[in-house]
Amino acid sequence: MTFDPASTSAGGRFPAVRPRRLRRTAAWRGLVAETSWSPRQLILPMFVREGATESTPIASMPGVVQHGRDSAKRAVAQAAEAGLGGVMIFGVPTTKDAVGSGAVDPDGILNVAVRDAVAEVGDALVVGADLCLDEFTDHGHCGLLAETSNGEVVVDNDATLEVYARMGVALADAGAGVVAPSGMMDGQVGVIRSALDTAGYADLPIMAYAAKYASAFYGPFREAVASSLKGNRATYQQDNANVREALREVRLDVGEGADVVMVKPALGYLDVLAAVRAEVDVPVAAYNVSGEYSMVEAAAANGWIDRERTIIEILTGIRRAGADMILTYWAVEAAGFAVARR
Ligand code: PBG
Repeated sequence: MTFDPASTSAGGRFPAVRPRRLRRTAAWRGLVAETSWSPRQLILPMFVREGATESTPIASMPGVVQHGRDSAKRAVAQAAEAGLGGVMIFGVPTTKDAVGSGAVDPDGILNVAVRDAVAEVGDALVVGADLCLDEFTDHGHCGLLAETSNGEVVVDNDATLEVYARMGVALADAGAGVVAPSGMMDGQVGVIRSALDTAGYADLPIMAYAAKYASAFYGPFREAVASSLKGNRATYQQDNANVREALREVRLDVGEGADVVMVKPALGYLDVLAAVRAEVDVPVAAYNVSGEYSMVEAAAANGWIDRERTIIEILTGIRRAGADMILTYWAVEAAGFAVARR
């Protein structure tokens, strides 16, 4: 053991400096806790299925359901009652086509669900909507497909932008309190911003999925939205080897007018989250995604981990890394833990 005279007390007792003094009691730990989270910082992602009269469990996400319209309304009311900052709604349409028509249709399930939610809770929480085509396309990609001159099928960036712009306005018309473009098309924030401004929605914020990685952790989500995707999204979502690229994406989105930038997934990307937090002044969101949820639920169901402590540790870790707000399937339940934490 190295002996440092400066850390030895006059009485000669070593060590004089003992960090453990501040960990002795729960009250001390509470006083010195650097990080916490409140219900107001949590956003609940929700799935609403067209034509469903009752909610259907999602097998790979125990505890999460595809709502019908009525149960969705109750869930939004419950989220508001729990003090959550917001919900993020995903639509699960009954019919899909190559261009994702359901996304821009005012009577499409996402727009309907947004209208329902706003009618239910008004501004008590932020009613957000995922702005992407993947739930609405029969090929499951986030944009429109096109064939290049050499016969290759690609996701057509610029053709997709035009649909995103219309979808943004449709969601604004439905009353969304924030739109969250998640398709990782270049320029998506800019076109949506200008479409919203032109349509009279200059005050509607955009939460950009700015650094969104192609991730195996979205696995259970694919069941949740009954995704039709074959293949992967590697040509538009980011490669998880990269962090400088995430900062570039984030700077571009802020430049195009993003009001909030998101990092997604969260747990394997806490370094990205910290780097993004240091890079920009706008609020930063993190998405604690489906696979992160399901891993914990599966391990807890087996009795391998303490479920509640694990959830608290994960949410605290995501906040510590720099997230101002967290999208999490545990939001309502965790709102209760937040008070209990101390
Ligand atoms: C795309 C979208 C996805 C998720 C949120 N928005 C899926 C994807 O990009 O493949 C994943 C969310 C989760 O896994 O919890 N609309």
